[in-house]
Amino acid sequence: MNEGTAVVLLEAALRAFAERVLEAAGVPHEKVPVVADPLVAANLRGIDSHGVQLLPHYVDQLAAGDVDPRADGRILAESGGCLLYDGQHGLGAVTSTTCCAHAVRLALEHGVALVVAREATHFGAAGYWAEKISAAGLIGIAMCDASPTVPPWQGREGRLGTNPISMAVPKPGGRGWLLDMATTTAAYGRLEKVALEGRTVIPEGWAMDRQGRPTTDLATALQGFLMPLGGYKGSGLVMMVEILCGALGGGAMATEIRGIRQHGRLSRVNHAFLGIDVGRFLPLEEFYARMDWLVAEVKATPPAAGYDEVLVAGDPEWRAEQERRRTGIPIPPGPWQALVRMAERLGVPLTTQA
Ligand SMILES: NC(=O)c1ccc[n+]([C@@H]2O[C@H](COP(=O)([O-])OP(=O)(O)OC[C@H]3O[C@@H](n4cnc5c(N)ncnc54)[C@H](O)[C@@H]3O)[C@@H](O)[C@H]2O)c1
Repeated sequence: MNEGTAVVLLEAALRAFAERVLEAAGVPHEKVPVVADPLVAANLRGIDSHGVQLLPHYVDQLAAGDVDPRADGRILAESGGCLLYDGQHGLGAVTSTTCCAHAVRLALEHGVALVVAREATHFGAAGYWAEKISAAGLIGIAMCDASPTVPPWQGREGRLGTNPISMAVPKPGGRGWLLDMATTTAAYGRLEKVALEGRTVIPEGWAMDRQGRPTTDLATALQGFLMPLGGYKGSGLVMMVEILCGALGGGAMATEIRGIRQHGRLSRVNHAFLGIDVGRFLPLEEFYARMDWLVAEVKATPPAAGYDEVLVAGDPEWRAEQERRRTGIPIPPGPWQALVRMAERLGVPLTTQA
Protein backbone atom coordinates (compact mmCIF):
# COMPACT_ATOMS: atom_id res chain seq x y z
CA MET A 1 0.00 0.00 0.00
CA ASN A 2 1.44 3.39 -1.01
CA GLU A 3 1.57 5.69 2.00
CA GLY A 4 1.34 8.81 -0.23
CA THR A 5 -2.13 8.04 -1.55
CA ALA A 6 -5.57 8.23 0.01
CA VAL A 7 -7.06 4.94 1.12
CA VAL A 8 -10.58 3.71 1.64
CA LEU A 9 -10.98 1.19 4.43
CA LEU A 10 -14.00 -0.88 5.28
CA GLU A 11 -15.20 -0.46 8.85
CA ALA A 12 -13.92 -3.87 9.96
CA ALA A 13 -10.43 -3.19 8.57
CA LEU A 14 -10.23 0.23 10.20
CA ARG A 15 -11.41 -1.17 13.51
CA ALA A 16 -8.88 -4.01 13.38
CA PHE A 17 -6.09 -1.54 12.60
CA ALA A 18 -7.10 0.81 15.45
CA GLU A 19 -7.25 -2.13 17.86
CA ARG A 20 -3.79 -3.41 16.84
CA VAL A 21 -2.34 0.08 17.37
CA LEU A 22 -3.93 0.49 20.80
CA GLU A 23 -2.79 -2.94 21.91
CA ALA A 24 0.78 -2.23 20.74
CA ALA A 25 0.68 1.12 22.59
CA GLY A 26 0.04 -0.68 25.87
CA VAL A 27 -3.73 -0.52 26.26
CA PRO A 28 -4.91 -3.60 28.20
CA HIS A 29 -6.64 -6.12 25.95
CA GLU A 30 -10.13 -5.74 27.46
CA LYS A 31 -10.01 -1.95 27.10
CA VAL A 32 -8.90 -1.93 23.47
CA PRO A 33 -12.39 -2.20 21.87
CA VAL A 34 -13.76 0.36 24.33
CA VAL A 35 -11.24 2.93 23.06
CA ALA A 36 -11.36 1.90 19.38
CA ASP A 37 -15.15 1.98 19.01
CA PRO A 38 -15.74 5.74 19.50
CA LEU A 39 -12.95 6.48 17.02
CA VAL A 40 -14.34 4.19 14.33
CA ALA A 41 -17.88 5.44 15.03
CA ALA A 42 -16.67 9.02 14.45
CA ASN A 43 -15.08 8.08 11.12
CA LEU A 44 -18.23 6.24 10.06
CA ARG A 45 -20.26 9.37 10.79
CA GLY A 46 -17.95 11.63 8.85
CA ILE A 47 -16.50 13.23 12.01
CA ASP A 48 -13.00 12.42 10.79
CA SER A 49 -11.35 14.97 13.09
CA HIS A 50 -12.35 12.70 15.99
CA GLY A 51 -11.78 9.35 14.33
CA VAL A 52 -8.61 7.27 14.00
CA GLN A 53 -6.86 10.52 13.10
CA LEU A 54 -6.56 10.94 16.87
CA LEU A 55 -4.62 7.70 17.32
CA PRO A 56 -1.14 9.25 16.94
CA HIS A 57 -2.02 11.71 19.72
CA TYR A 58 -3.37 8.96 21.95
CA VAL A 59 -0.25 6.86 21.33
CA ASP A 60 2.03 9.81 22.14
CA GLN A 61 0.07 10.53 25.32
CA LEU A 62 0.42 6.91 26.41
CA ALA A 63 4.15 6.91 25.65
CA ALA A 64 4.62 10.14 27.63
CA GLY A 65 2.71 8.73 30.62
CA ASP A 66 0.01 11.41 30.37
CA VAL A 67 -2.65 8.68 30.30
CA ASP A 68 -2.62 5.66 32.58
CA PRO A 69 -4.01 2.80 30.44
CA ARG A 70 -4.58 0.61 33.51
CA ALA A 71 -6.60 3.08 35.59
CA ASP A 72 -10.29 2.24 36.01
CA GLY A 73 -11.34 5.35 37.92
CA ARG A 74 -13.39 5.42 41.11
CA ILE A 75 -16.53 6.97 42.55
CA LEU A 76 -15.75 9.91 44.82
CA ALA A 77 -19.30 10.72 45.92
CA GLU A 78 -22.82 9.57 45.14
CA SER A 79 -26.04 11.10 46.40
CA GLY A 80 -29.48 10.92 44.80
CA GLY A 81 -29.03 11.36 41.07
CA CYS A 82 -25.60 12.99 41.48
CA LEU A 83 -22.29 11.23 41.11
CA LEU A 84 -18.73 12.57 41.18
CA TYR A 85 -16.09 10.40 39.55
CA ASP A 86 -12.28 10.41 39.56
CA GLY A 87 -11.00 9.30 36.16
CA GLN A 88 -7.51 8.75 37.63
CA HIS A 89 -6.05 9.92 34.27
CA GLY A 90 -7.22 6.68 32.66
CA LEU A 91 -8.33 6.33 29.06
CA GLY A 92 -11.12 8.83 28.35
CA ALA A 93 -13.32 6.23 26.67
CA VAL A 94 -13.02 3.90 29.67
CA THR A 95 -13.96 6.64 32.16
CA SER A 96 -16.84 7.76 29.93
CA THR A 97 -18.22 4.25 29.45
CA THR A 98 -18.38 3.80 33.21
CA CYS A 99 -19.84 7.27 33.82
CA CYS A 100 -22.54 6.82 31.14
CA ALA A 101 -23.56 3.54 32.79
CA HIS A 102 -23.83 5.38 36.11
CA ALA A 103 -25.88 8.16 34.46
CA VAL A 104 -28.32 5.59 33.07
CA ARG A 105 -28.56 3.71 36.37
CA LEU A 106 -29.17 6.87 38.40
CA ALA A 107 -31.59 8.46 35.91
CA LEU A 108 -33.72 5.31 35.89
CA GLU A 109 -33.70 5.37 39.68
CA HIS A 110 -34.20 9.11 40.25
CA GLY A 111 -35.60 10.51 36.98
CA VAL A 112 -32.60 12.75 36.32
CA ALA A 113 -28.91 12.09 36.85
CA LEU A 114 -25.75 14.13 36.51
CA VAL A 115 -22.37 12.40 36.56
CA VAL A 116 -19.24 14.56 36.54
CA ALA A 117 -15.77 13.10 36.04
CA ARG A 118 -12.60 14.95 36.95
CA GLU A 119 -8.95 14.02 36.31
CA ALA A 120 -10.12 12.51 33.03
CA THR A 121 -8.66 12.45 29.51
CA HIS A 122 -9.89 13.01 25.94
CA PHE A 123 -13.16 11.22 25.13
CA GLY A 124 -13.40 12.00 21.39
CA ALA A 125 -16.74 13.01 19.90
CA ALA A 126 -19.18 14.03 22.64
CA GLY A 127 -22.18 12.70 20.72
CA TYR A 128 -20.99 9.11 21.05
CA TRP A 129 -21.46 9.42 24.81
CA ALA A 130 -24.82 11.23 24.68
CA GLU A 131 -25.96 8.38 22.46
CA LYS A 132 -24.72 5.77 24.93
CA ILE A 133 -27.25 7.24 27.37
CA SER A 134 -30.04 7.64 24.80
CA ALA A 135 -29.59 4.00 23.78
CA ALA A 136 -31.14 3.17 27.17
CA GLY A 137 -34.31 5.13 26.27
CA LEU A 138 -33.25 8.32 28.07
CA ILE A 139 -32.38 11.76 26.81
CA GLY A 140 -28.60 11.85 27.01
CA ILE A 141 -26.42 14.92 27.31
CA ALA A 142 -22.63 14.80 27.30
CA MET A 143 -20.05 17.56 27.41
CA CYS A 144 -16.43 18.09 28.33
CA ASP A 145 -13.90 20.85 28.70
CA ALA A 146 -10.71 21.05 26.71
CA SER A 147 -7.33 22.78 26.64
CA PRO A 148 -7.36 26.60 26.51
CA THR A 149 -7.23 27.38 22.79
CA VAL A 150 -10.19 29.78 22.79
CA PRO A 151 -10.08 33.41 23.94
CA PRO A 152 -13.21 34.66 25.65
CA TRP A 153 -15.10 37.14 23.47
CA GLN A 154 -13.13 40.40 23.13
CA GLY A 155 -9.97 38.65 24.31
CA ARG A 156 -6.80 37.66 22.45
CA GLU A 157 -5.40 34.86 24.55
CA GLY A 158 -6.66 31.29 24.86
CA ARG A 159 -8.27 30.83 28.26
CA LEU A 160 -11.05 28.30 27.58
CA GLY A 161 -11.52 25.13 25.50
CA THR A 162 -13.60 24.18 22.47
CA ASN A 163 -15.85 22.54 25.11
CA PRO A 164 -18.34 20.43 23.12
CA ILE A 165 -22.01 19.96 23.97
CA SER A 166 -24.11 17.06 22.74
CA MET A 167 -27.63 15.84 23.25
CA ALA A 168 -29.14 12.62 21.96
CA VAL A 169 -32.85 11.85 21.90
CA PRO A 170 -33.96 8.21 21.87
CA LYS A 171 -35.88 6.90 18.87
CA PRO A 172 -37.03 3.31 18.78
CA GLY A 173 -35.57 1.40 15.86
CA GLY A 174 -33.96 4.47 14.32
CA ARG A 175 -31.44 7.23 14.53
CA GLY A 176 -32.80 10.01 16.73
CA TRP A 177 -32.03 13.71 16.90
CA LEU A 178 -28.37 14.06 17.84
CA LEU A 179 -26.75 17.43 18.34
CA ASP A 180 -22.98 17.22 18.73
CA MET A 181 -21.04 20.45 18.47
CA ALA A 182 -17.99 22.31 19.65
CA THR A 183 -18.85 25.63 21.28
CA THR A 184 -16.38 27.23 18.90
CA THR A 185 -17.43 27.70 15.26
CA ALA A 186 -15.27 24.68 14.41
CA ALA A 187 -13.54 22.04 16.49
CA TYR A 188 -9.69 22.28 16.59
CA GLY A 189 -9.43 18.91 14.85
CA ARG A 190 -11.07 20.51 11.83
CA LEU A 191 -8.09 22.87 11.42
CA GLU A 192 -5.77 19.92 11.72
CA LYS A 193 -7.79 18.01 9.14
CA VAL A 194 -7.58 20.93 6.68
CA ALA A 195 -3.79 21.00 7.22
CA LEU A 196 -3.41 17.25 6.72
CA GLU A 197 -5.45 17.48 3.52
CA GLY A 198 -2.92 19.99 2.20
CA ARG A 199 -5.34 22.94 2.03
CA THR A 200 -4.38 26.42 3.23
CA VAL A 201 -7.65 28.34 3.45
CA ILE A 202 -10.36 27.90 6.10
CA PRO A 203 -13.92 29.29 6.09
CA GLU A 204 -14.62 32.73 7.53
CA GLY A 205 -15.60 32.79 11.19
CA TRP A 206 -13.50 29.79 12.27
CA ALA A 207 -10.42 31.50 13.65
CA MET A 208 -8.50 34.67 14.39
CA ASP A 209 -4.84 35.70 14.47
CA ARG A 210 -2.86 36.36 17.64
CA GLN A 211 -4.15 39.93 17.78
CA GLY A 212 -7.76 38.75 17.64
CA ARG A 213 -8.34 39.68 13.97
CA PRO A 214 -10.47 37.23 11.91
CA THR A 215 -8.47 35.14 9.42
CA THR A 216 -9.12 32.57 6.71
CA ASP A 217 -5.42 31.66 6.42
CA LEU A 218 -4.82 28.24 7.96
CA ALA A 219 -1.21 28.92 9.04
CA THR A 220 -2.27 32.13 10.79
CA ALA A 221 -5.19 30.30 12.40
CA LEU A 222 -2.93 27.52 13.69
CA GLN A 223 -0.76 30.20 15.34
CA GLY A 224 -3.85 32.05 16.52
CA PHE A 225 -7.15 31.08 18.09
CA LEU A 226 -10.47 29.44 17.39
CA MET A 227 -13.49 31.72 17.62
CA PRO A 228 -16.29 31.17 20.10
CA LEU A 229 -19.49 30.22 18.31
CA GLY A 230 -21.55 33.33 17.54
CA GLY A 231 -19.42 35.81 19.49
CA TYR A 232 -20.24 36.50 23.10
CA LYS A 233 -23.08 33.97 23.16
CA GLY A 234 -20.63 31.21 22.30
CA SER A 235 -18.28 32.57 24.93
CA GLY A 236 -21.12 32.10 27.43
CA LEU A 237 -21.76 28.53 26.24
CA VAL A 238 -18.05 27.66 26.58
CA MET A 239 -18.20 28.93 30.17
CA MET A 240 -21.43 27.06 30.84
CA VAL A 241 -19.72 23.79 29.91
CA GLU A 242 -16.66 24.68 32.00
CA ILE A 243 -18.89 25.38 35.00
CA LEU A 244 -20.77 22.06 34.69
CA CYS A 245 -17.58 20.10 34.06
CA GLY A 246 -14.60 21.82 35.69
CA ALA A 247 -16.08 24.07 38.37
CA LEU A 248 -18.65 21.52 39.54
CA GLY A 249 -16.26 18.57 39.31
CA GLY A 250 -13.64 20.17 41.56
CA GLY A 251 -10.79 19.37 39.17
CA ALA A 252 -8.64 21.49 36.87
CA MET A 253 -10.24 24.38 34.99
CA ALA A 254 -9.60 26.46 31.88
CA THR A 255 -5.85 27.25 31.65
CA GLU A 256 -4.98 24.35 33.98
CA ILE A 257 -6.08 21.83 31.34
CA ARG A 258 -3.64 20.31 28.82
CA GLY A 259 -4.54 19.14 25.33
CA ILE A 260 -3.86 15.80 23.62
CA ARG A 261 -1.16 17.48 21.54
CA GLN A 262 0.81 18.72 24.57
CA HIS A 263 2.73 15.82 26.07
CA GLY A 264 4.55 15.42 29.34
CA ARG A 265 1.73 16.78 31.50
CA LEU A 266 -1.54 15.28 32.64
CA SER A 267 -4.57 16.49 30.65
CA ARG A 268 -6.84 16.91 33.68
CA VAL A 269 -9.97 17.17 31.51
CA ASN A 270 -13.48 17.00 33.03
CA HIS A 271 -16.59 15.35 31.59
CA ALA A 272 -20.29 15.75 32.45
CA PHE A 273 -23.03 13.26 31.56
CA LEU A 274 -26.72 13.90 32.10
CA GLY A 275 -29.53 11.39 31.80
CA ILE A 276 -33.23 12.33 31.73
CA ASP A 277 -35.86 9.62 32.09
CA VAL A 278 -38.50 10.63 29.54
CA GLY A 279 -41.07 8.26 31.04
CA ARG A 280 -41.26 10.44 34.17
CA PHE A 281 -42.77 13.21 32.04
CA LEU A 282 -44.83 11.50 29.33
CA PRO A 283 -45.64 7.98 28.21
CA LEU A 284 -42.74 7.03 25.94
CA GLU A 285 -44.93 6.42 22.87
CA GLU A 286 -46.39 9.91 23.22
CA PHE A 287 -42.92 11.45 23.48
CA TYR A 288 -41.69 9.57 20.42
CA ALA A 289 -44.74 10.73 18.43
CA ARG A 290 -44.15 14.32 19.54
CA MET A 291 -40.49 14.12 18.46
CA ASP A 292 -41.53 12.74 15.06
CA TRP A 293 -43.97 15.62 14.65
CA LEU A 294 -41.39 18.21 15.70
CA VAL A 295 -38.70 16.89 13.37
CA ALA A 296 -41.17 16.58 10.47
CA GLU A 297 -42.41 20.13 11.09
CA VAL A 298 -38.87 21.51 11.00
CA LYS A 299 -37.87 19.51 7.95
CA ALA A 300 -40.99 20.64 6.08
CA THR A 301 -39.69 24.24 6.17
CA PRO A 302 -39.35 25.57 2.62
CA PRO A 303 -35.60 25.53 1.84
CA ALA A 304 -33.79 28.86 1.63
CA ALA A 305 -32.21 30.00 -1.62
CA GLY A 306 -29.25 27.77 -2.47
CA TYR A 307 -30.51 24.75 -0.50
CA ASP A 308 -32.80 21.93 -1.53
CA GLU A 309 -33.81 20.68 1.92
CA VAL A 310 -33.83 21.48 5.63
CA LEU A 311 -31.98 19.09 7.95
CA VAL A 312 -32.00 18.52 11.69
CA ALA A 313 -29.04 17.70 13.93
CA GLY A 314 -27.73 14.22 13.29
CA ASP A 315 -28.92 14.01 9.67
CA PRO A 316 -25.48 14.60 8.10
CA GLU A 317 -23.84 12.05 10.40
CA TRP A 318 -26.49 9.34 9.94
CA ARG A 319 -26.31 9.78 6.17
CA ALA A 320 -22.52 9.56 6.23
CA GLU A 321 -22.74 6.45 8.36
CA GLN A 322 -25.14 4.71 5.96
CA GLU A 323 -22.91 5.54 3.02
CA ARG A 324 -19.60 4.68 4.68
CA ARG A 325 -20.84 1.36 6.04
CA ARG A 326 -21.46 0.45 2.42
CA THR A 327 -18.54 2.04 0.60
CA GLY A 328 -15.88 2.32 3.30
CA ILE A 329 -14.14 5.16 5.11
CA PRO A 330 -11.91 7.43 3.04
CA ILE A 331 -8.69 8.56 4.71
CA PRO A 332 -6.89 11.37 2.87
CA PRO A 333 -3.12 11.09 2.19
CA GLY A 334 -2.04 13.39 5.06
CA PRO A 335 -3.83 11.58 7.88
CA TRP A 336 -2.96 8.24 6.31
CA GLN A 337 0.75 9.11 6.28
CA ALA A 338 0.56 10.08 9.95
CA LEU A 339 -1.06 6.70 10.71
CA VAL A 340 1.50 4.82 8.62
CA ARG A 341 4.40 6.50 10.46
CA MET A 342 2.80 5.73 13.82
CA ALA A 343 2.19 2.08 12.83
CA GLU A 344 5.81 1.72 11.72
CA ARG A 345 7.06 3.11 15.01
CA LEU A 346 4.93 0.59 16.89
CA GLY A 347 5.73 -2.29 14.54
CA VAL A 348 2.05 -2.71 13.74
CA PRO A 349 1.22 -4.10 10.27
CA LEU A 350 -1.01 -1.95 8.07
CA THR A 351 -4.31 -3.46 7.12
CA THR A 352 -4.41 -5.12 3.71
CA GLN A 353 -8.16 -4.62 3.19
CA ALA A 354 -7.99 -1.27 1.41
N1 LIG B 1 -13.35 15.94 23.04
C1 LIG B 1 -13.11 17.20 22.81
O1 LIG B 1 -12.29 17.82 23.48
C2 LIG B 1 -13.85 17.92 21.70
C3 LIG B 1 -13.75 19.31 21.63
C4 LIG B 1 -14.45 19.95 20.62
C5 LIG B 1 -15.21 19.23 19.70
N2 LIG B 1 -15.28 17.89 19.82
C6 LIG B 1 -16.06 17.11 18.85
O2 LIG B 1 -15.80 17.59 17.52
C7 LIG B 1 -16.84 17.15 16.68
C8 LIG B 1 -17.10 18.18 15.62
O3 LIG B 1 -17.72 19.34 16.19
P1 LIG B 1 -18.23 20.51 15.23
O4 LIG B 1 -18.77 21.59 16.06
O5 LIG B 1 -17.16 20.84 14.25
O6 LIG B 1 -19.44 19.76 14.46
P2 LIG B 1 -20.28 20.19 13.15
O7 LIG B 1 -20.21 21.67 12.98
O8 LIG B 1 -19.88 19.34 12.01
O9 LIG B 1 -21.77 19.78 13.53
C9 LIG B 1 -22.42 20.31 14.64
C10 LIG B 1 -23.86 19.83 14.70
O10 LIG B 1 -24.60 20.46 13.65
C11 LIG B 1 -25.39 19.49 12.97
N3 LIG B 1 -25.52 19.93 11.57
C12 LIG B 1 -24.53 19.97 10.63
N4 LIG B 1 -25.02 20.45 9.48
C13 LIG B 1 -26.34 20.72 9.69
C14 LIG B 1 -27.39 21.24 8.88
N5 LIG B 1 -27.18 21.60 7.61
N6 LIG B 1 -28.63 21.38 9.42
C15 LIG B 1 -28.86 21.01 10.71
N7 LIG B 1 -27.90 20.53 11.54
C16 LIG B 1 -26.66 20.38 11.02
C17 LIG B 1 -24.65 18.20 13.09
O11 LIG B 1 -25.55 17.10 12.98
C18 LIG B 1 -24.06 18.34 14.50
O12 LIG B 1 -24.97 17.86 15.44
C19 LIG B 1 -17.99 16.80 17.61
O13 LIG B 1 -18.14 15.40 17.61
C20 LIG B 1 -17.54 17.28 18.98
O14 LIG B 1 -18.04 16.52 20.07
C21 LIG B 1 -14.63 17.21 20.80
